Amino acid sequence: MNVQSKIAPTTNKKVLAFVEEAKELFKPDSVYWCDGSKEEYQAMLKALVDGGTAIRLNEDKRPNSILVRSDPKDVARVEDQTYICSEKKEDAGPTNNWADPAEMKETLRKIYDGAMQGRTMYVVPYSMGPVGSPIAGIGVMVTDSAYAVANMHIMTRVGDKVWKALGDSEDFVRGMHTVGAPLTSQTQADVPWPCNATKYISHFPETREIWSYGSGYGGNALLGKKCHALRIASVKARDEGWMAEHMLILKLTNPEGESKFIAAAFPSACGKTNLAMLNPTIKGWKAETIGDDICWMKFGEDGRLYAINPETGFFGVAPGTSDHSNYNAMRTLDANCIYSNVALTDDGDVWWEEMTKEPPAHTVDWLRRSWTPDAGRPAAHPNSRFTAPAGQCPVIAPEWEDPKGVPIDAILFGGRRASVVPLVTEAEDWKQGTFLGSIMASEKTAAAADAKGDIRRDPMAMLPFCGYHMGDYFAHWLKIGEKGGDKMPKIFYVNWFRKSPEGKFLWPGFAENSRVLKWIFERCDGTAEAIDTPIGKVPAEGALDTDGLDVGEADLKELLRVDTEGWKSEIPSIKEHYETFGDKLPGGLKEELGELEKRLA
Ligand code: GTP
Ligand code: SPV
Ligand code: MN
Repeated sequence: MNVQSKIAPTTNKKVLAFVEEAKELFKPDSVYWCDGSKEEYQAMLKALVDGGTAIRLNEDKRPNSILVRSDPKDVARVEDQTYICSEKKEDAGPTNNWADPAEMKETLRKIYDGAMQGRTMYVVPYSMGPVGSPIAGIGVMVTDSAYAVANMHIMTRVGDKVWKALGDSEDFVRGMHTVGAPLTSQTQADVPWPCNATKYISHFPETREIWSYGSGYGGNALLGKKCHALRIASVKARDEGWMAEHMLILKLTNPEGESKFIAAAFPSACGKTNLAMLNPTIKGWKAETIGDDICWMKFGEDGRLYAINPETGFFGVAPGTSDHSNYNAMRTLDANCIYSNVALTDDGDVWWEEMTKEPPAHTVDWLRRSWTPDAGRPAAHPNSRFTAPAGQCPVIAPEWEDPKGVPIDAILFGGRRASVVPLVTEAEDWKQGTFLGSIMASEKTAAAADAKGDIRRDPMAMLPFCGYHMGDYFAHWLKIGEKGGDKMPKIFYVNWFRKSPEGKFLWPGFAENSRVLKWIFERCDGTAEAIDTPIGKVPAEGALDTDGLDVGEADLKELLRVDTEGWKSEIPSIKEHYETFGDKLPGGLKEELGELEKRLA
């Protein structure tokens, strides 16, 4: 640690008071002010390697990259221990765990007391979005995890430029994070992945604070991501009239060279990273990446919604990622990455399920055990991840760091639905689109640390990420739609996951999803044909470009079929879902449901 890092590089009184308060509470051995430099990143990697948390991968195969294996009890977001601590319980709403802010702080102060003994407290200034962009936002995070610091370096803009942009302003999110594993005696050795069985991921939306305890993994610990950019930002967005959404952003260009920008909200592990980086299979079309997980949108002077990707990296699902499924992700991963909970090959490289056609004959699995293909268990954890710099993506769009953002033409909703939901549906207008988003449902995935597989309603893919009452969130969507009027993006509902009765995916997905994107692009221009159905517009016969597509006629029909009976049988569960919001459910959505029922009858 150099001398410089011990001196506060800001005179912002609010920041200094915050760091002082954190220091008194956590009682770290030392305080380190991060500057975001390359040297600092290397120092973090070295600390992780020297401390036994990480191993360096083979320099010839994955230059400047490390593998980290976490504690098996700390592998995903913990939704049960995630809290929205608004002053009033009703502001957290029925979909969030609520706790009284004063009581939560009292509870946490007790376990925060001395929690960083024997450790360094890093102070991380970061910007979500290009520094100085009118859509961006600043955060200051303290943490005792070098793994979190290294990840924040890749995922956000860290450094002194943030102090400069912040100046004396009080407008920043204050994040406190500890793994909750103090080293209390001088002789006590650290473990490879310190964490605590007790976990709290607590948010104080009114005061823009995040207090996180006990986990070092992903969204629990990288506070810029879900905690700041979605839970706190969604509240800020409601207050200030903009949108903070769980969406990828991509740029799609047709053979004539015209481009459109598309944002898409799919729940965790439902295909955002893959869609954001796809290589279209249709001739002459080009797709480029702006972001793969989070989208902040504000109205521009022309009255349209402009979006930025607040992040600078991808914290992506490893299993299933291959040259075949996501070539551009694989190239992004060639160097300078952090791998978490994947397997280690005998030649010092990484491996995960489906990365290669043939698995390696032997690996060390994510639990550090010897693994062979007949082991009967996966070598990589299902929620194993890569942290990769976005700038390394071969198809990153030139506009990806444009401070004014990109104008959004279409918004997609989607989830994993084995039945009922067609490949693509176009909403009549913003209001019906909001309705479709509000009733979205999807199978649970390994991105959250509880039972997977069963279907749950996940409105706008924001169920675990909305920092306030979901009914108020729906009202906010409608209000934004009224403000934007006819300048709002068109809304579509997609489903890549419809299955045959035998349980086989009917749609090849991945790069072939470009065919659906093409139809959406042309619907925005009013050139592609559509037919009306009770749930919205679907492609007319022949309107979906199937040239060279290997899908049988019958399967294609089934993919686009509107299952009236299936939708009818969903109505009671939609009503039940809506009832949970009580009188916060906007009248406009009740109307939409009533009209859907009529059209289905
Ligand atoms: P988070 O990072 O958790 O928000 O996930 P994500 O939405 O970015 O999902 P991602 O693109 O990482 O995909 C998750 C899983 O779904 C991977 O195992 C993919 O292989 C799989 N997947 C993605 N797109 C498709 C698709 O079009 N069809 C099918 N069948 N599977 C897909
Ligand atoms: C998700 O679960 O939606 C993720 C991973 O993107 S995490 O950052 O852990 O939230
Ligand atoms: Mn995500």
